[in-house]
Amino acid sequence: MKKLILVANWKNAPSSHEEAQSLLKGLGKKRLVYKKLHTFIAPPLTYFESVSGKASGYAKLGAQDLFPEEKGRFTGSVGVDILKNFGVRVVILGHSERRALGETSEEVARKVRVALRAGFTPLVCFGELSREQDGEHFEFIREELQASLAGLKKSELSKIILAYEPIWAIGKNAIGVIDPESLSEVAVFVKKVLTDLFGRAAAESVPLLYGGSVDGRNAGILTKNTGVSGFLVGRASLSPESFAEVAEAMLQK
Ligand code: PGA
Repeated sequence: MKKLILVANWKNAPSSHEEAQSLLKGLGKKRLVYKKLHTFIAPPLTYFESVSGKASGYAKLGAQDLFPEEKGRFTGSVGVDILKNFGVRVVILGHSERRALGETSEEVARKVRVALRAGFTPLVCFGELSREQDGEHFEFIREELQASLAGLKKSELSKIILAYEPIWAIGKNAIGVIDPESLSEVAVFVKKVLTDLFGRAAAESVPLLYGGSVDGRNAGILTKNTGVSGFLVGRASLSPESFAEVAEAMLQK
């Protein structure tokens, strides 16, 4: 079986270098577990060096966004070259917290193209704000996916990762984690959308992750037979114990 994918999204934490060091020290104790997965850590830029130094044996570096201009001077931005030189492999794009700040799917699509040109794997996030009985969220998912992947060639589809992150399940205001049946439904639906856009073979090549309140208690059940290839983890990635629980649950047979 292919290795599952586990991505830590540290967001804007921890708040000090010392805390980041201690988190990395804790994570390192379970390096053998993380090596059984494709593990990525996407820290704030300030901790890139620490993560790429201390976690290089078991996790690859991720960025939480990408500045899409490739040439020119842009005060306050971190360019693609810097990310490349730090060894970034995966770039989280279109996270709902960035979309909430005004990022549009068109901008996400542009960033996807820039990321691919730079040799990064774009990890494209999508997901509805809320769920209605009439299943309207499926239409939302279709439109958001279609717009976020606009301009992508069929042959490029195998170079991206998707992350279904329903906003109602994310962060400390989450109403809860998704149930496995609903997650399977979304996985099937996403495959259908991708098949319509790019054809079946290309659609089969894209790993789909889930994110939103993933922890050691639900990671096992959400891994089994739901059609997802791993998780994008926020809160539980900021504690070595919780993150290890997620990884261990994913590996359980
Ligand atoms: P959460 O965040 O795991 O804290 O719900 C997930 C995410 O925003 O990627």
